Amino acid sequence: MKRVGLMGCGTVADYGHIPVLLNTPGLKLQAVFDPDPKRLKYVQEKFGLDHAFQDEAAFFASGLDAVTVTSPAPCHLANIQAASRAGKHVLCEKPLGMTEDECREMIDCTTRAGVMLFTGFDYRFSPAALQIRQWLRDGAIGELRSLRLIYIWNCHGKCQRNEQGVLVENARRRGRMDEGGPMVDCGVHQIDLARFWTGSEVQSWTTAGAWVDEYAAPDHMYLHMRHANGAHSMVEISYSYCHTCRQPVNIFTYDLIGTKGLIRYDRNAKILDMRNQDGVFTKPFAPEKNFAAMYEHFRDALEQGGSDVLPTGLDGLMAAKISREATDALMAQHRCGGN
Ligand SMILES: NC(=O)c1ccc[n+]([C@@H]2O[C@H](COP(=O)([O-])OP(=O)(O)OC[C@H]3O[C@@H](n4cnc5c(N)ncnc54)[C@H](O)[C@@H]3O)[C@@H](O)[C@H]2O)c1
Repeated sequence: MKRVGLMGCGTVADYGHIPVLLNTPGLKLQAVFDPDPKRLKYVQEKFGLDHAFQDEAAFFASGLDAVTVTSPAPCHLANIQAASRAGKHVLCEKPLGMTEDECREMIDCTTRAGVMLFTGFDYRFSPAALQIRQWLRDGAIGELRSLRLIYIWNCHGKCQRNEQGVLVENARRRGRMDEGGPMVDCGVHQIDLARFWTGSEVQSWTTAGAWVDEYAAPDHMYLHMRHANGAHSMVEISYSYCHTCRQPVNIFTYDLIGTKGLIRYDRNAKILDMRNQDGVFTKPFAPEKNFAAMYEHFRDALEQGGSDVLPTGLDGLMAAKISREATDALMAQHRCGGN
C-alpha cells in the first residue's frame, strides 16, 4: 500500500482527486494539507479524513510515500520543492508551472532528490483518448495530418451571486484569467493531447486571439502547431463563450483528419466515431477526464519505480511553455495595438 498526501483541498481535489484516492486499490490517502483552515475542515468532514494539516512540516512527517499537488498553479513550484526536500514522489496538476523556468526548476529539484515527477494530464486516460490513440496506431484513418481540438466555454461565467445574493465578479474565473487565461490554464490539456496523439514534438506555432472581456490575458485564443512529423494541430480555447449569458452553451470537440478517414469526438452530442472507406465505427462515449485511471498508473509507477504511460515533468513543461509563450506573444502584439 502506497501512502499519498494531497496538497491543496480545493475544487478539483474535492470532486476528482480525493474521491479517487480513497477508492484506488493499493493507494491510501494518508494526509491532506491546505493553508486555509476552512477548506481543511470541509474536506476532513466530508470525506472522514484522519490527518489534515495546515503545518507543512507535520504533513510531510505523517508517513508519506508520495504527494499529489492540487493547489493553484502559482503554488506548484513551492509545493514540489518542499516535496523534493522531503524525498516524496510527485503527481502535479496542470499547468505544471507558471513559466518554462519554473518547470525546469521542478524537473531539476525532483531529479536531484531522486524522486519521480509526473504531470496530471488526466485527459490522456479517458477511454475516448485511448481509443483514439488505438485507431491512430492501427492506421484506421491513414496518416494523421490535422487535429482540431476545441474547448470554448464561459469558465463558470463572469458573475455569480454571493452569500447575500448580490451579483459579484466570479473570483474563480478572475483567478484563472490572472494566471494567464484559457490557453495557459485549460489549453495545456489539448496541447498535451496533440503531442500524445501525433507522437511528435511541436516544432513551431502561430497564434491569434481576442479580448472579449477586460482581463490582461486574451480570453479567446487559437493556436496552430506544426509537429516534427508534418502534422498540424489547431487548439481553440475560450473562457468568454457566453460568459455573460443567462443560458450558456459550450463546445468541446476533437476532430482528427487523416489521409484515409476521420475521427470525431463531441462531448455534448456524446459522439465517438471513426469513419473511413469501410464505413462508420462507433465506440461508447466517455467523458474527457479520467482521474481513476491516472491514479492506477500513479500507483503502478510508485510500485515499479517508473512509468512509460504517465505524462512526465517534460510533458508538463512543453505544454506550459507553448501555452505561455503563445499567450505572451499575443499580449505583446495587443500592447502594440496589433490585435
Ligand atoms: N485536471 C483537471 O481537469 C483540472 C480541473 C480543475 C482544476 N485543475 C487544476 O488543479 C489546480 C487546483 O485548481 P482548483 O480549481 O481546485 O483550485 P481552487 O482554488 O478551488 O483550490 C486550490 C486549493 O489550494 C489551496 N492552497 C492555496 N495555497 C496553497 C499552497 N501554497 N499549498 C497547498 N494548497 C494551497 C487553497 O486554499 C485551495 O483550497 C490548478 O492547477 C488547476 O489548474 C485541474
